[in-house]
Amino acid sequence: MSKQVLILGIETSCDETAAAVVADGGFVLSNVIYSQIDIHRDFGGVVPEIAARNHVGKIDHVVQKALGDAGISLSDLSAVAVTCGPGLVGALLVGVNFAKGLAFGAGLPLIAVNHLEGHIASAYLENLDFTPPFVAMIVSGGHSHLVHVGDYGNYQVLGRTQDDAAGEAFDKVARVLGLPYPGGVEIDRLAKQGNPSAIPFPRAKLGDTLNFSFSGLKSAVINHLNTTKMKGDSVVDADIAASFQEAVVEVLTKNAIEACKVMNCQRLAVVGGVACNSRLRQSLTQACDENSIGLHIPKPIFCTDNAAMIASAGYHHFKAGKFAQMDLNGIPSLTL
Ligand code: KG4
Ligand code: ZN
Repeated sequence: MSKQVLILGIETSCDETAAAVVADGGFVLSNVIYSQIDIHRDFGGVVPEIAARNHVGKIDHVVQKALGDAGISLSDLSAVAVTCGPGLVGALLVGVNFAKGLAFGAGLPLIAVNHLEGHIASAYLENLDFTPPFVAMIVSGGHSHLVHVGDYGNYQVLGRTQDDAAGEAFDKVARVLGLPYPGGVEIDRLAKQGNPSAIPFPRAKLGDTLNFSFSGLKSAVINHLNTTKMKGDSVVDADIAASFQEAVVEVLTKNAIEACKVMNCQRLAVVGGVACNSRLRQSLTQACDENSIGLHIPKPIFCTDNAAMIASAGYHHFKAGKFAQMDLNGIPSLTL
């Protein structure tokens, strides 16, 4: 029996300090996530300098715990994979430098992973039958991308947001409704008590492209709130949340199905934090059923930022012999 490939993944691109050990790209042996959300909530969003400082304070413990939970030591590892971008530069540098030191000290290969590629690889976790080709929709706080995954490491971007990311729109609308950060889950909860048809918020259609735009929708929500208050009418937050969410979900569902049709592809993976949204899951399930498309949405813990997805992406670099050097840097605006 050939030896398992054990990859330690490290993720610090935003406000989660995370480390995980994954065997053969799909078996999650440990998945440690230290979330800084409680620290950033008071500021209504992630403060880059505070995020970087907290990564520095936690990374050693988080990595030790990931190795301990997996029941292995450094010498059992095949390689160390780390997110090198996109993300907050100070936050990225903490993970990149820690990974470089660890790999150098232990004589292990170093692997650089694009955070977006990591989100795509979350589809492989505990799901070894899921293989390319497929269409991936990445919907997170920082990104909204439709990507055709022709093979491991072979990505064709089909569409992306032209302004706000889907999660960013959820967070901003939540903020104007006075809900705590991060707002996606709060809107999801509140929307369950509201009427999704109450307010006809706009659905942006960007010509024949598969691109997204959510900033107009966000402005429409703010305008609706202001005019309702000015008229002295009562504001029904649950209806606003449900109507806003419905507009986002409709556009995401429509473009994802269209992308599958354009690429003649019968498999769709939806990843990133917004993939936790209950209405989006419901809408995609129905649309994929109607169009005979196989839908895979990872478990919520693998949708939001984590290091198991980085380790999984790293495994495929390892198989392809793609390694990073000790001059690896954090690249805040890295593209797929
Ligand atoms: O993937 P992620 O953890 O971090 C980034 O790479 O950005 O995604 C975080 C985003 C936040 O904007 C958060 O509000 C959103 O995912 N999110 C949700 C839900 N859970 C998390 N958005 C809508 N509904 C949810 N249930
Ligand atoms: Zn992410």
